[in-house]
Amino acid sequence: MIHYHADSRTFALLGKASVYQIRISEKGEVEHLGYCSLPQANDLPRNWDRHIPTRTIRPTSSHQSFQCEYPAFGDTSLNDVALKVSFPKAARIDPATEAPHEPVRDARLRYAGHEIGSVGDPGFAPKHGLPVRSKSPRTGLKIRLKDELYPFYVTLFYRLTPEHDIIERWVELENACEHPVEVEKLAFASLSLDAFHWEITHVSGGWCREFQIERHTLHTGRFVWGSQAIITGLSTNPFFLLNQSGGATESVGEVLFGALAYSGNWEISAEVQERGGLRLSGGYHSLDFRMSLAPGEKHRTPAMVWGRSSGGWSGASQQLHAWAQDYVLPRPATHAPYLPVLYNSWEVAYFNIKEEEQMALARKAAEVGVEMFCIDDGWFGGRRDSKAGLGDWVVSKDILPRGLQPLIAEVHQLGMSFGLWVEPEMVNQDSDLYRAHPDWVLHFPGRARSEYRNQKLLDFGRPEVVAHILEQLDRLLQENKIDFFKWDMNRYATEPGSAAGRDIWYRHVAGVYGIMDELRRRHPHLSIESCSSGGGRVDFGMMGRVEQFWASDNTDAKHRILIQEGYSMAYPVRTMECWVTHERNHQTLSFLPLSLRFDCAMRGALGIGTPLNKITPEELEEYRRRIAFYKKIRPVIQDGILHRLERAEDRGTSVWQYMEAGGQRAVLSLLAHHAAMLKTPPRLRLHGLIADACYRLTDFTGQELGRASGWSLMTLGYSSLSNNGAENYSETILLEVCPE
Ligand code: GLA
Repeated sequence: MIHYHADSRTFALLGKASVYQIRISEKGEVEHLGYCSLPQANDLPRNWDRHIPTRTIRPTSSHQSFQCEYPAFGDTSLNDVALKVSFPKAARIDPATEAPHEPVRDARLRYAGHEIGSVGDPGFAPKHGLPVRSKSPRTGLKIRLKDELYPFYVTLFYRLTPEHDIIERWVELENACEHPVEVEKLAFASLSLDAFHWEITHVSGGWCREFQIERHTLHTGRFVWGSQAIITGLSTNPFFLLNQSGGATESVGEVLFGALAYSGNWEISAEVQERGGLRLSGGYHSLDFRMSLAPGEKHRTPAMVWGRSSGGWSGASQQLHAWAQDYVLPRPATHAPYLPVLYNSWEVAYFNIKEEEQMALARKAAEVGVEMFCIDDGWFGGRRDSKAGLGDWVVSKDILPRGLQPLIAEVHQLGMSFGLWVEPEMVNQDSDLYRAHPDWVLHFPGRARSEYRNQKLLDFGRPEVVAHILEQLDRLLQENKIDFFKWDMNRYATEPGSAAGRDIWYRHVAGVYGIMDELRRRHPHLSIESCSSGGGRVDFGMMGRVEQFWASDNTDAKHRILIQEGYSMAYPVRTMECWVTHERNHQTLSFLPLSLRFDCAMRGALGIGTPLNKITPEELEEYRRRIAFYKKIRPVIQDGILHRLERAEDRGTSVWQYMEAGGQRAVLSLLAHHAAMLKTPPRLRLHGLIADACYRLTDFTGQELGRASGWSLMTLGYSSLSNNGAENYSETILLEVCPE
């Protein structure tokens, strides 16, 4: 619900448990008044807009005490800004008193009207037309601002999802001048907060160690993180959680959070100003950013997602998860309600694909209960290793002389769907595509072309390149009954010379989104996994086009615990693909028991990547039983509410509880990250159970481990039956309401 009080020109955006308030100042600037929890449930008092305290201190030299909702460079704004634009010609010059200091590099945005109602979609929103889970229409607010002198407009958009206390914000620029306007910095949104000791949680990492949680206090100055890799990036991810220092835990405390719904270069900045106030902003990365808006041109940015929780960090995650599940993830009617158990043969065959072996693997996979069989890299063009073939999306006759059809037919006949790996944005020098179009890659003339993993990045700033890739993938889908693409992306853009000039940074993203949207529109049965050397392209922009993400190339369960904890901070674990792989892990070379490998992979969308054709019948039987158990608990894992009861760093064991809506079933997942010998096993107080119900606890074999009331599990807690802090310990337990 959005309220507006005309006399005070104040807006209140009301969520289920939060209220976001802004007003238009006397000068026509938009002032942020506050974003806080509602003191009373669900409504505003009748006189909410009376006696709003005014901020009396407003030093003329600084904007700092004025919490500007979308500060632009110039005027008195000293600190970080959301927007910087320049106008080539002065709108007017008084030659007696003014010099022609052009371009005019300042913007003064003032209120020019507003509208409450439907606000449409942010920039880069999916165009595939597939439905999302929720059908509820959402209202929003548009505030139109105009520069004091130029017909240059900035519209601030707010779209409210009250049931999850989420506000998406974005802006649209419109150049109604007779000359171009240069945009040098463009945030999707910004937010000014009062002075506190703020503590921020975000993730950092790299290849094979994505999503490592970091938490620290913000000090005076600017903390900026982002990606300039043309993708979301492996080294960090565009979300954060914020609380007053020491004021939050996993389950309690006020937490404000934000995330960008965008898969290209981005940056988020958190600046503690000299008077202590905090200014947050997020948007396009400013390095090499320059957007020229022609007369009459508009640009609408992607969204920045904001929310507020009183339920600690887990509470914040739950809101983002629920919002993404309801409004972001595509839910075509043709798809099963839960993500299938996937088999991927990458770590078994690598580039050495043989039809017979793949068939044998598929038969074993079907035997143990796998539902989707995916062939990874190496099936196309001259791709026998990483040195050749990228760009040629045609089935290799050397590898599969009979084509893909027999394999697909076998997989389908076994009752599984069929998936294929592609890396559409790339080209190897040794490929037919590169030989035909050496000018189709990002490069600067006269410079040697750099390679990473022997590959170059196609120039998606050329419409003909995007059209060519779309046509190749479309043909693959038309000629073969492919149900799933694992869409990979394995190099950064380090030499961004493009037909699109500097616009390539977002044109590339638009090209990728456009191909995905069009493929999904033409082939609604298709589903997609986003992969970028692991978790390099996980974000809410991509989430609108895909079912799942490959969170990391590191499949070692111990490492994965941390990666998955970080991933779960923002993203629904339903989308987090995890595989059980070899006993001796291929990335870390350590040995881990099957129980831990399974219990870890079952935390999200389960996948298998082991050589099923080489293991004993007893082991195969264990796979079968564990996969059957996963399918039983899958609705709770994939659609339940996730509570992170303990993180690995707390006492060595990572403990997650998934709660089914209604409280009938829960799943408890305990994974020892490191041995904590002689420490008292954690007593885990569960959430959301039915107090007077009796719960039966069972393990993957169906064996009953005990019974307890919801009340005792929520107050006295569950004490792990077998955990004495041992190395490699893990368990996954199903709790179901049972007759007393
Ligand atoms: C990337 C992916 C892997 C695998 C290989 C194939 O590294 O992250 O999962 O698909 O490419 O070359």
